[in-house]
Amino acid sequence: MNTNKGRKKMNGGKFKLLTLLAATALVLFCAGNVLAAASGACVNCHTMHNSQDGASMMVDGTDGPAPALVRAASCYGCHGDVDIVNGTWDNFLTAPGKTPRINAQTYGDYGVSGDTLAGGSFYWVDDAGMAADAKGHNVVSVAGQDGKLGYQPPGWDPNFSVNGQINGGAETWNNQLTCAGVTGCHGDHTATDDFTAVKGGHHGDDSELDGSTVAKSYRFLKGIIGYEDPEWEFQPTATKHNQYHGEARTADTATNTKTISYLCAECHGDFHSGEGTLGADGTTWGAPWLRHPTDLDMNDLPNTEYALYNGDKSYSVVAPVASEDVSAVKSSVLVGAGDAVVTCISCHRAHGSPFDDLLRWKYNEDGHLMVAANGTSGNVGCFVCHTTKD
Ligand code: HEC
Ligand code: HEC
Ligand code: HEC
Ligand code: HEC
Ligand code: HEC
Repeated sequence: MNTNKGRKKMNGGKFKLLTLLAATALVLFCAGNVLAAASGACVNCHTMHNSQDGASMMVDGTDGPAPALVRAASCYGCHGDVDIVNGTWDNFLTAPGKTPRINAQTYGDYGVSGDTLAGGSFYWVDDAGMAADAKGHNVVSVAGQDGKLGYQPPGWDPNFSVNGQINGGAETWNNQLTCAGVTGCHGDHTATDDFTAVKGGHHGDDSELDGSTVAKSYRFLKGIIGYEDPEWEFQPTATKHNQYHGEARTADTATNTKTISYLCAECHGDFHSGEGTLGADGTTWGAPWLRHPTDLDMNDLPNTEYALYNGDKSYSVVAPVASEDVSAVKSSVLVGAGDAVVTCISCHRAHGSPFDDLLRWKYNEDGHLMVAANGTSGNVGCFVCHTTKD
């Protein structure tokens, strides 16, 4: 095997391999395939003994070794690596593989023109200097406990357990949110550590997503389905984006447990279909609402307000809608039943954003950005759907 005497310290004390070893990896990597599953030389991501010339092989500055023989001690160790440049991914020698980066720093007004991917970014909640607990999910290894919310998810309801019982079903959360597992979003909810929870995910066949295994679930969110943009929505457009799964509900109960909103409901259940959602007239579904609806199809509404979604019914990457059919990207919506479903991530980013409550756009900080913030005509943020309120 090659030597790597060129190893040196940079970027916050991380050890990097920069020699023949890496050149070999380059050749092997280029020969790899372009499927979503992990590809490239094993050495990009794994170390057999965590020792090369007697020194650690970890890429995240930790001592190692790590579970599954990977070269980072945590999910964030790889996915939060500063050397990943989303879009070009040209620094893969030091950031293993074509890794989607979850702490990108360039968001812009809506997170669609910079380097932020679909999930948003943990960068703002990660920055202790900003005291920004509200700007992201406070995940272990990313940020400490949320100063206001503690460990408990607002709207927590243990009954949304079809895809595995989160927090062991307990009423009170005594542990902080993790990337995966029993107190996390990704992977198998019966596992108590991140790597056990996603085991087999990175190498699994994900050509057909039916939610049956971690690998066959949308973004390793076990039980959830959807269409995966191969570049994780790096600079998405109406014709290039994820296609989220939603349900055209006609009642408050969550019957479809494979939607992206059901994922959020696994922890924030009451915000999806909770107690106290009885309408003023005694019904449990329909306007006037008591909480903002999700898994509601705008095709089912008579109002022209929603028929003018995004002005011309083109899919908005600013305020996206989900669909029942997720076999392909939809560039126009409100074309057929079930293709314009309001979802939690119509308004939120899953990981975080520069804005409070992980919102996709600025909502209340100066009261102005919502309206024609991008310098073009209106219909941004809430107005993408509420077209007559602009
Ligand atoms: C781009 C990064 C990457 C590359 C390249 C890579 N792996 Fe992995 N591998 C991972 C990660 C991350 C995990 C742990 C999480 C998981 O199981 O999904 C893993 C887990 C595994 C596992 C245990 C889980 C399973 O799927 O059985 C084995 C075995 C494995 N890798 C073997 C290999 C071999 C052999 C190669 C080279 C042909 C390789 N890997 C290349 C990232 C990679
Ligand atoms: C050794 C580096 C490494 C580690 C550690 C690692 N990942 Fe990954 N991850 C990758 C790479 C590279 C990809 C892109 C290839 C792929 O899609 O499998 C990826 C892809 C993903 C994806 C997107 C899959 C898709 O459908 O596109 C998710 C979700 C993910 N990882 C979650 C995790 C979680 C959770 C952990 C911690 C248990 C983790 N990763 C640990 C390197 C890593
Ligand atoms: C595994 C549990 C879990 C899942 C799944 C989950 N969350 Fe959370 N969420 C939490 C916890 C715990 C908190 C409170 C602590 C924190 O902010 O991290 C929280 C806080 C929040 C907050 C408030 C942030 C703040 O600090 O004020 C928002 C907004 C939010 N979640 C939205 C979502 C959305 C949208 C989804 C689906 C994409 C989702 N959550 C999925 C556990 C979860
Ligand atoms: C993806 C589309 C979409 C987005 C984005 C959206 N809404 Fe809505 N909103 C709807 C739909 C659909 C309804 C249900 C209307 C109905 O039943 O008549 C609704 C209902 C409401 C209601 C209750 C109306 C009633 O009659 O009870 C309010 C208030 C509201 N939205 C405000 C907002 C605000 C504020 C934002 C931005 C933070 C926003 N919405 C973003 C689609 C959206
Ligand atoms: C129409 C846009 C919109 C939709 C759809 C939406 N949210 Fe929110 N969410 C907001 C806004 C705006 C806030 C800020 C607080 C408020 O206005 O109630 C918020 C706040 C939150 C909070 C923080 C509560 C706290 O106490 O800090 C959580 C958690 C949350 N949302 C989860 C969800 C989940 C889960 C869904 C889907 C079931 C969802 N949201 C759907 C706009 C939305």
